[in-house]
Amino acid sequence: MNLLFDIRDRFVPVSSLLDEFGIEPGWTVVDYGCGPGSYIKRASELVGPRGQLFALDVHELAIKAVMQRAARDLLTNVTAVVTDTSKCPLADETADVIYALDMFHMVSDPTGFMKDLDRISKGTGFLFIDNGHQSRDEARSKIIASGVWEMVEEKKRYMKWRPLKKGA
Ligand SMILES: C[S@@+](CC[C@H](N)C(=O)[O-])C[C@H]1O[C@@H](n2cnc3c(N)ncnc32)[C@H](O)[C@@H]1O
Repeated sequence: MNLLFDIRDRFVPVSSLLDEFGIEPGWTVVDYGCGPGSYIKRASELVGPRGQLFALDVHELAIKAVMQRAARDLLTNVTAVVTDTSKCPLADETADVIYALDMFHMVSDPTGFMKDLDRISKGTGFLFIDNGHQSRDEARSKIIASGVWEMVEEKKRYMKWRPLKKGA
């Protein structure tokens, strides 16, 4: 599996995507459904020593791989966390940016998932999410149905959302 991610990352450099997310030094970022951690090095660099990256996944093996990668690359601002499918262990209003890449199609309760992402997002935060292995229409309508996110921008590779509570 890791080999497949390595091949993908060689053809589509992770920084070409993450660098579009406007992540700033000192921010707290959540890599939701991080897998083996393809994106953690660049995200760790972007938030810098005063920032924090939480890498979350439901699979212990993924979290182990992320911890190994973080130790190997001396990424001291990365915390890898095993999460639950219904509620993640992060506190309310933690994240300036959440990104969830190539994973949304695997989520069995999209509304519950979106509500939990809203819970851990700061009111000023943003969510970057791609379709995963489903159509854009399907991904977009699941997010809208949750009633807690508002679309900010739609690009070919991802959608950018902000919490509705921001405007409340
Ligand atoms: C195809 S991998 C993508 C990994 C990474 N985001 C990337 O693009 O390289 C999908 C990952 O999402 C995780 N996942 C699926 N459903 C999840 C959920 N509800 N919460 C957290 N992680 C989840 C899986 O365990 C898997 O590691």
